[in-house]
Amino acid sequence: MVLSSGTAPKVTLRPLKASDVDAWRDARRRNAGWLSRWDATAPPGADAKPVTFRTLIRRLSRSAKAGTTLPFAVEVNGAFAGQLTVNNIVRGSAQFASVGYWLDREYAGHGVMPRAVALAIDHCFLAVGLHRIEIAIRPENSNSLRVVEKLEIPEVGYAPRFLHIDGDWRDHRLYAITKEDVPFGLLKRYEESLVSPAGGRPEAEQAEERGRRRSPDGGRGARSASDEPRDPAT
Ligand SMILES: CC(C)(COP(=O)(O)OP(=O)(O)OC[C@H]1O[C@@H](n2cnc3c(N)ncnc32)[C@H](O)[C@@H]1OP(=O)(O)O)[C@@H](O)C(=O)NCCC(=O)NCCS
Repeated sequence: MVLSSGTAPKVTLRPLKASDVDAWRDARRRNAGWLSRWDATAPPGADAKPVTFRTLIRRLSRSAKAGTTLPFAVEVNGAFAGQLTVNNIVRGSAQFASVGYWLDREYAGHGVMPRAVALAIDHCFLAVGLHRIEIAIRPENSNSLRVVEKLEIPEVGYAPRFLHIDGDWRDHRLYAITKEDVPFGLLKRYEESLVSPAGGRPEAEQAEERGRRRSPDGGRGARSASDEPRDPAT
């Protein structure tokens, strides 16, 4: 399955695969300093071996088969540019998941990850049947905060010492979106917002979304989510 954005830059999501090994390693090596501050690390007592592509792909394939993870490569104009992982897929009455991501700095600042996140969330809502997606971000991570801001994903809470990142337990701001928040799709809403900062969408469409956000069952009650602890840049 391949998901692509409509407007330039052309951002594509496709399953991460074993043959991404060289591109993944090269990107991680060149971006070590840029990514380490946001990378998940092993908490005290856990296996502290560094994440290699081989161990990562093995673990991700296992959890993808179990239906709890969707690991994607992010491509820009056909070139490997980063990774986005839908983690912690919970079925039953939750139909919930969380999303983590990182990008090669070479591609930063062109709206690549907002498009990738929108593609992933639309896929989760429309094809996978999920209802709520959460993104946890360190308060210091201004670049990632811009991603959820651009996508107008509501902030739903604050989780002290939520994930072990860059060597310690770190507080996170929690953002979450439900299927009802984006009846016409998140990518469509985002790309239209670029045309007109006011949204560029028909007034009726905007009003419907505002109404859903205000409704008591808007689905944004605070809910904790634990990310896969050893993924880089969750
Ligand atoms: C967070 C991240 C995925 C954003 O991806 P992106 O495709 O660059 O997102 P955007 O293009 O929307 O840029 C977001 C902000 O990054 C900043 N930025 C832009 N270009 C940049 C560059 N070349 N270098 C550093 N930061 C830059 C800007 O503040 C920008 O906001 P603006 O568009 O309002 O100016 C990317 O910065 C990244 O991979 N960071 C390291 C890993 C990480 O933080 N992962 C997320 C953990 S929650």
